[in-house]
Amino acid sequence: MNLADTFSDRLLGWWDEHGRQDLPWQHPRTPYRVWISEIMLQQTQVGTVIPYFLRWMERFPDINELAQAPLDEVLAHWAGLGYYARARNLHRAALACMAEHGGTLPKAADDLAQLPGIGRSTANAIVSQSTGKPAAVLDGNVRRVLARHAMVGGWTGSAAVQKALWREAETRLPAERGADYTQAIMDLGALLCTRSDPDCAHCPVRSDCQARLAAQVAHYPAAKPKTKVRDRPVFMLVLQDRQQRVLLQKRPPAGIWGGLWSLPEAASLADLEQQSGLTLADCIYLPPREHRLSHQRLLIQPVRARKLQARQVKSLPEHCWVTLKQEASLAVPKPVADLLRELGSL
Ligand code: ADE
Repeated sequence: MNLADTFSDRLLGWWDEHGRQDLPWQHPRTPYRVWISEIMLQQTQVGTVIPYFLRWMERFPDINELAQAPLDEVLAHWAGLGYYARARNLHRAALACMAEHGGTLPKAADDLAQLPGIGRSTANAIVSQSTGKPAAVLDGNVRRVLARHAMVGGWTGSAAVQKALWREAETRLPAERGADYTQAIMDLGALLCTRSDPDCAHCPVRSDCQARLAAQVAHYPAAKPKTKVRDRPVFMLVLQDRQQRVLLQKRPPAGIWGGLWSLPEAASLADLEQQSGLTLADCIYLPPREHRLSHQRLLIQPVRARKLQARQVKSLPEHCWVTLKQEASLAVPKPVADLLRELGSL
């Protein structure tokens, strides 16, 4: 018996009894549904994703509907999941499928991986889950499982470690049941082989888990080298007119919150004054808030101008005035949406 047979047999045996078999994207497991679920699940937990996935499928049941929809509406259906580049890439990829692949996702993993937002692991996750053909995946959960089982040291994000992990992933593939195996190894990472509290006692592959045998599970995978997080002050203008409409500004397509509707903002009060043409000396400072991005911490200071100033604001093409009710259907970054919700109850 080689490792591949016994690892996958044990894992699949465990999954048949304890794995997740009633996730919405498993019924039916079409390439389109698997694709959308995989992208949603990239940075987000299953429990959060499910309602988004169901709403998405109601509105965009296939690639054609997605490609035809305005990007704004796609982003609005994504609002709250974060990392909006994922939604923009879904839309771009849907357009590419219409233009280049006859309105369907390409079948081969290599072709899938050419589409925006689809890497090698996601391409293989789509192929294996929608066709049943085994193909190695390496998302965050799987990296952790393999780093422990094969005791691969180093940070799993580095190229050298990834190369070693891909090799481990490939060696363990079963000969069949590719769809179940992909779900099983992800489930093992999500349910038992968790980052800080692994349940080794119930693990189906504990007997040859190298990190467990060496009593080193807690040290694998190695922690990510610390990235410096920069603090960035952001002054946001909260301006309502007499009809309680609030001024929003569409952000440039690239960069943080690209293409989303946000409040006008600047790095200082003086810049905000200059940009808006308003005098903000007697504005009200609403409670500040923080928002963490990958390399930055936004220190958001909302400043509320007087209603009378609504007519004096320097108007820009990317501005629009919306009621709080209309705002709920726009793609608005989470901390701004939270702020506007509070504003509604003031
Ligand atoms: N993360 C990525 N894909 C997943 C899946 N199919 N099930 C659960 N978590 C996942």
